Amino acid sequence: MSLRDLLSARLGAAFATLAGEPVDPLIQRSAHADFQANGALPLARKVQRPAREVAGEVLAAAELTGLATGEVSGPGFINLTVLPDALDRMVAAMAVDERLGVPMTQDPEPVIVDYSGPNVAKEMHVGHLRSTIIGDCLVRVLRFAGHDVTGISHTGDWGTPFGMLLERLVEIGEAAAAHELSVGDLDGFYKAARLRFDSDPAFADRARRRVVLLQGGDAETLRLWRVLVAESQRYFMAVNEKLGVLLTEADYMGESFYNDRLAEVVHELDGLGLLRPSDGAQCVFPAGFTGRDGGPFPMIVRKRDGGFGYSATDLAAIRYRIKELKGSLILYVVGAPQSRHLRMVFAVAGEAGWLRWPVRAQHVAFGSILGEDGRMLKSRAGRAVKLSELLDEAVSRAAALVAEKSPQLDPQERAEIARAVGVGAVKYADLSTDMVKDYVFDLDRMLAFTGDTAGYLQYTHARVCSILRKAGGFTGTPSIVDPAERALALELLAFPDAVQEVADEFQPHKLTGHLRGLAVAFTAFWDACPVLRASPPVRESRLVLCDLTARTLRHGLDLLGIHAPQRM
Ligand code: ARG
Repeated sequence: MSLRDLLSARLGAAFATLAGEPVDPLIQRSAHADFQANGALPLARKVQRPAREVAGEVLAAAELTGLATGEVSGPGFINLTVLPDALDRMVAAMAVDERLGVPMTQDPEPVIVDYSGPNVAKEMHVGHLRSTIIGDCLVRVLRFAGHDVTGISHTGDWGTPFGMLLERLVEIGEAAAAHELSVGDLDGFYKAARLRFDSDPAFADRARRRVVLLQGGDAETLRLWRVLVAESQRYFMAVNEKLGVLLTEADYMGESFYNDRLAEVVHELDGLGLLRPSDGAQCVFPAGFTGRDGGPFPMIVRKRDGGFGYSATDLAAIRYRIKELKGSLILYVVGAPQSRHLRMVFAVAGEAGWLRWPVRAQHVAFGSILGEDGRMLKSRAGRAVKLSELLDEAVSRAAALVAEKSPQLDPQERAEIARAVGVGAVKYADLSTDMVKDYVFDLDRMLAFTGDTAGYLQYTHARVCSILRKAGGFTGTPSIVDPAERALALELLAFPDAVQEVADEFQPHKLTGHLRGLAVAFTAFWDACPVLRASPPVRESRLVLCDLTARTLRHGLDLLGIHAPQRM
């Protein structure tokens, strides 16, 4: 149990005795003591007694011996100061724990994370960047917490555009198409296909016939389609490799995967009486959704031409994830503009009886990345920015910084550091902002080694590693005395709480914020407390803190998907 949880349990028991029911002691870190519990205030209002009196009684009943001392303060807060022995003990326990105090969940469950989701023969854009980065972090954190996590990339690999894409492939030949796609000129390929479609009626005709062949399962058409998918996938995997995310080929479960389940979905919805014709299409009108005119708003399941679209596929997907994959928590890491679409998918899945407590589905929504002009990010040429170009630029700028700061390192190591710093900067900037907000893509700020950046954390980590290298091993136990040591120890002991919060609330910025606080506390400690120059027992104790700081930063960054080099 983390220090905060331990205090919370002890005070919680006292609260419960007093109130005759469970009460959250509302423990948080405090500027006036180590922690403060605010729970007496709402309880006092409820039982209509003075809050200070309630707080006093809770404190008197609380079993804090050997752990902390408490005192009532202000209008009825309980300030808690951890006893030095308890602090030493907990830091020592953390030091020998590979998990750094983070518990395995008591209720492991099958979790599905839908993320990345690029589209075949279309460039991955910055929206896919955010989804990939945030999804990867959630996969890592939830796995570490002990859940059984499946990542799925819901790739757009089906639909009418494939008619023109396939005809384009036929026109230029498989080899040329494969080359264009796998080197990442997905946009070029897509645009050329579109141009041919718009300018040549014969091409457009062939494209339309091609769609029919594709849907009819024509063997040669399917073979060509597989070329498109495989070559795009090769490119997606190259981007993933650059990004250093956990997605594997097996995690790509494109829209086409659900093709032979669509009819079944329609049949089932119809059997449940949920399907209604509207404008020639088959629709579901889930409760609570209205159009501009205030009338019921449809989710189109089967289009007028008999085809199925994005919505039908998502219905088949959620059904599959619940019924066949047995997922009990399904996270959709998708941009905020698809919020209504997903709410409707969840609503229909609920009305169909698939999505039922304790099974939950949640949209983990994120905002846009803006250019420095505050508008949607565009390249100088005015087109949408390619994700892989952004990463390359970040890495090459990082390389220049590293060459300037650490010319003594060999080129190979410098290149690795540059990659960790460049990619880390982009990821951190993404993960550290409140997800639903838009943020400005500013490489200069992202790549700084000061401020709320990956570079600051990586740099702090490398600095601690260098201290540990110089120390050449240590064997002591912690004995925390100095206020700066104490502040650092409290930050370290809060790591499990931060990880827990991300696992519960799916907000990576809770973890970045924690790691930043830890790095700041370490910097203050390093300024105030000599380590290598201190005499043996103190030196050893401080080295325990250094070692824990390095491990916690490294582990925390790893959960964010960011590499922490030993040297910078
Ligand atoms: N391919 C979609 C896009 O590019 C994202 C897929 C999101 N996931 C889902 N189940 N709809 O917008």
